[in-house]
Amino acid sequence: MGRRLAAHWQLILVVLLLAGSLVVLLLNSVAAFLLPQKELEARDNLRTAAIELAAAARPFLDEIPDDATVDRTLPAPLHRNLAAETERALAKFPGLEGGFYVNGRVDQFVGFAHPDGQTPPPGRRDPPPKETPSIRQQARESLTHAVSDPPLIEVRDIGPSRVGVATAAVGDVRPARIAAWVMVRLTGPDQQRRELVRYRISTILALVGILLALGLTANLARSLQRERTRREKLTDELRKAEHLAALGRLLAGVAHEVRNPLAAIRSTVQLWQRFPDQTRTPASLDAVVTAVDRINDLVGQLLQFARAGHEERLSVDLNAIVTETLELSRAQAERQGVRIEADLASDLEPVAGSAQALRQVALNLVNNALQVMPVGGRLVCRTRSFAEGVELTVADSGPGVPADIRDRLFEPFFTTRPDGTGLGLAVCREIVTRHGGRIELVTDVLVGATFRVILPGTTAMDSGGKS
Ligand SMILES: Nc1ncnc2c1ncn2[C@@H]1O[C@H](COP(=O)(O)OP(=O)(O)O)[C@@H](O)[C@H]1O
Ligand SMILES: [Mg+2]
Repeated sequence: MGRRLAAHWQLILVVLLLAGSLVVLLLNSVAAFLLPQKELEARDNLRTAAIELAAAARPFLDEIPDDATVDRTLPAPLHRNLAAETERALAKFPGLEGGFYVNGRVDQFVGFAHPDGQTPPPGRRDPPPKETPSIRQQARESLTHAVSDPPLIEVRDIGPSRVGVATAAVGDVRPARIAAWVMVRLTGPDQQRRELVRYRISTILALVGILLALGLTANLARSLQRERTRREKLTDELRKAEHLAALGRLLAGVAHEVRNPLAAIRSTVQLWQRFPDQTRTPASLDAVVTAVDRINDLVGQLLQFARAGHEERLSVDLNAIVTETLELSRAQAERQGVRIEADLASDLEPVAGSAQALRQVALNLVNNALQVMPVGGRLVCRTRSFAEGVELTVADSGPGVPADIRDRLFEPFFTTRPDGTGLGLAVCREIVTRHGGRIELVTDVLVGATFRVILPGTTAMDSGGKS
């Protein structure tokens, strides 16, 4: 009970561990799977933002002085206006940073939108230092293209972060042109580090979980195997105990049965002692021999019964057994004028069991059949394979079994014959049961009696049946 409970909890643990680990692995791969999608969305956003920013810068193009030089900053009002436009245009796109790059003699970044939305202090503003060279480079590339070109978009690793950048060119060649740039950080260094740590920890945990689950499963399989062996042993012991009990009951009956012929022998022999001359007749000698035969018969049957269940289990061909049995009975059948027929399935699968014991079953059934047809008749033995295993039927054309004794046929010592022991069918049932099969009287026959034996086939035992 306790062992089964432990197995139960182990099973739950295995399922939980496996499920948890799989969920973690799944989440990791979903995150990896969604990354390109995130990048695509960022590209769309960047394109729109770059176009809007470029449109916002257009009116200020004329204000850029012709004599702007490399060292000079833009005139303050222009600078402020561009910064304000940047903020206004980017307000719609959270997370984006952006500004303008002015071409020509003015070579600087202006109007850099501060990420936290503060108004940028007047003066020169650049993107974060690591990104600056790349964005400057991309702005230059963008300006060498025609004005109508769509924004130039690139996603690349800059320093420890991965950023998406879009640049759009504004204005004509005269006197200077503006490149509007926007940027989004897809992953920053901190975020990347955190994600990496999380990814590593979760993957390691998931792998440990799977390993643990595997270990537990192996353990569980072992304990289940042990449990099964234990149960098999128990079943076996139970079967033996049952057999012993049946044997005990039988023995009591036999003791009783043996007493009658013994008493007959004793009284006859006593008579011989007292009146040797008058009583030693051939008839009395015959009576003693018959009584001894009867005891011998009983003991023989008893041995059959005791042996059932202790034979080795081999692959047995039931057809061969039937053929042998019929061969043995042929002379007797001929004397009685009984016609013997055998209808044996050619594809009969073998049964696992003892040939000797099964031969006894066939012989008992055939003997019974012959005994009820003293003046001729027909005896048919049939075998066939079916889903449950194999079937043997022994049918005769005798008087059949009266309905009122059908329930008692297989009881030990039940007999209707004066010289019967009543053990034949009991032994049959004992043997067939030991083989995992069953024996029954077929009740829906028109003529005579038919007994059916069903035994599990060797393949039926392995695979649970075949058609
Ligand atoms: N083929 C049969 N036809 C009719 N009755 C049968 C047949 N086989 C068995 N019986 C009945 O079952 C009884 C028990 O049979 P069995 O156990 O073989 O003991 P026994 O043959 O010693 O009588 C028989 O006495 C008989 O009444
Ligand atoms: Mg019999």
